Order: sequence, then C-alpha cells, then structure tokens
Amino acid sequence: MAAFTRLEPVVFDPTTPNEARMYDYFVGGKDNFAADRDAARRALEIAPELPMMCREGRRFLGRVVRHLAAAGIRQFVDIGCGLPTQGSVHQVAQAAAPGSRVVYVDNDPVVVMHSQALLDDHRNTAVIEADMRDPEQILGHPRLNELIDLREPVAILLLFSMDVISDDDLVARIVGHLRDAVVPGSHIAIGHSVSDLRPEVTAKLGALYLDRGIVSGPRREQVRSKGDIERLFDGLTLLEPGVVYIPRWHPEEGEAGGNPGAVWSVGGVGRKDGPAGAR
Ligand SMILES: C[S@@+](CC[C@H](N)C(=O)[O-])C[C@H]1O[C@@H](n2cnc3c(N)ncnc32)[C@H](O)[C@@H]1O
Repeated sequence: MAAFTRLEPVVFDPTTPNEARMYDYFVGGKDNFAADRDAARRALEIAPELPMMCREGRRFLGRVVRHLAAAGIRQFVDIGCGLPTQGSVHQVAQAAAPGSRVVYVDNDPVVVMHSQALLDDHRNTAVIEADMRDPEQILGHPRLNELIDLREPVAILLLFSMDVISDDDLVARIVGHLRDAVVPGSHIAIGHSVSDLRPEVTAKLGALYLDRGIVSGPRREQVRSKGDIERLFDGLTLLEPGVVYIPRWHPEEGEAGGNPGAVWSVGGVGRKDGPAGAR
C-alpha cells in the first residue's frame, strides 16, 4: 500500500472559508471573500490576538531563514507558503545569501496563482501547486527538481501549515518522509500553534476550524500540544534552543524575546545528521 494517498486537487470555492485567505484577512490583506471574513471574524472573537500571532509567525520565519542561510543553506522549500506578503522566504534568503533558490508549495490554487503572478520573473524562485499530504509528489515535482538539487542540503519549512491537518499519524509520516528523503546537513523547520498555554481558546478555535471545513481529517477535542511538536523532530538533531514559544527562538536586536504567554505558537529547527552523501 502506498504510504500516501493520491489526492484530488483543492478546487477554488469562495463560499467555503479558506485558511490562507483568513490569514490574509488577519494581516490586513485584500485577497479574501465573505466566507473567509465571516469565519475570521468569529475566530477573532475567540482569539483577538490572532493578527499579532500572525506577525510573530512571520518574524519567526525571517529569523529561521536568516539562521539557516548563515549555516550555509542555499535551497529552501516552503510548504504551505500562504499568500505572498512582506518578508517572504525568497526575499529573506536572497538578501542573506544571494543566489539562494526557493520553491514555494501550497495546495490552494488562489495562493499559487497570486504567487506565480508576483514571482513570474524572479530567478531562482518557483511556485508549485501540491499537497503536503503527498510529500512524494512535492519532492518529485519537475519544477522543484529544476531548481532544487536534492543531493545537496535543503531547508524544508513547515510553518503554521500542518495545523489544519488533524491526523497526528499523517503529520508524523509527512515529516518522517521529508526527513528520510533529504541528505544530511538538511534542516526541517516547524511552526505550529499549541494547546498548552490557552487550552480553552485553542479548543474553541479548533472546533470552529473543523465546523467550517478548514481543517481536514478526524475530529479532535484539542489542537496539538508542545510535546506533540517536539516528537515530530524525532530522528533530527534539534538546534538550540529547542522547541520554544516562537518569540523566544533566537530573538534579534530590538525584539523583546517575547511575552510567550500571549503567543501560543511554538517553533523549532532540526538538522539531519549522518555521513555526507547519505539519505
Ligand atoms: C497559515 S498559512 C501559513 C503561511 C506561511 N507558511 C507563514 O508562515 O506565514 C498556511 C498555509 O498552508 C496551506 N496549506 C494547508 N494545508 C495544506 C496542504 N495539505 N498542502 C499544502 N499547503 C497547505 C494553506 O493553503 C495556507 O496557505
């Protein structure tokens, strides 16, 4: 039996709220429809801190990419990249290390269309429509393979995109497949909202996302915990400071290091170790 089920592509449907477009609404964007705004407003009633959390998430993304560029990584695959906004991976990576190659992946055709329109004439950058629930399809995609040499270390970014896949086993298999497919020296970065700090808020939000069809997979009472995210790094060497509330992950000058009580997302970066050239 294949490890991953072949999936039908996501069809554009403005009447069903969509995670990428709700996120766009939270950060003040215009690429959203009435159904997205309705679900987003309900989410904001439950958690008014969501726009701040999104901004913290983008700061975390920037720090992770700069950190990896400083560690010598020149290839990035951003899975669940979201609608284009300021401080995207190619902007950060190519500012830190010119010539860095970036492939964006999302299963939302609106995200892919917008991103392709913006990045059409960017060298060293590509956007592909693919579903992370089928990671083989992502790594085997011809456009990815034109830009990314999988015989060289690569950074796989899974930032706030696995939150909407409720099946723990599937998420572990996705990360495990990506880990096994990349060569030593590669890194996997994960950002994820967790239940530990504000369980009453995350339980309500989780139920809203399930009820509105934004989350795929079985119904669950609570979103993942910090311990669940730590376990996703099994088989990787977790870089310092480990899996932490994101404001605490290598805060840069001018960043407070956070009020972690207000930001209930964690993040971390793991490195695959082993003999060079091995998989
Ligand atoms: C909250 S946004 C995160 C955007 C960006 N990674 C960031 O950190 O700002 C999550 C993105 O994951 C995408 N996504 C959700 N499920 C996905 C899947 N199964 N395959 C690929 N992308 C997915 C959504 O379409 C959305 O664009």
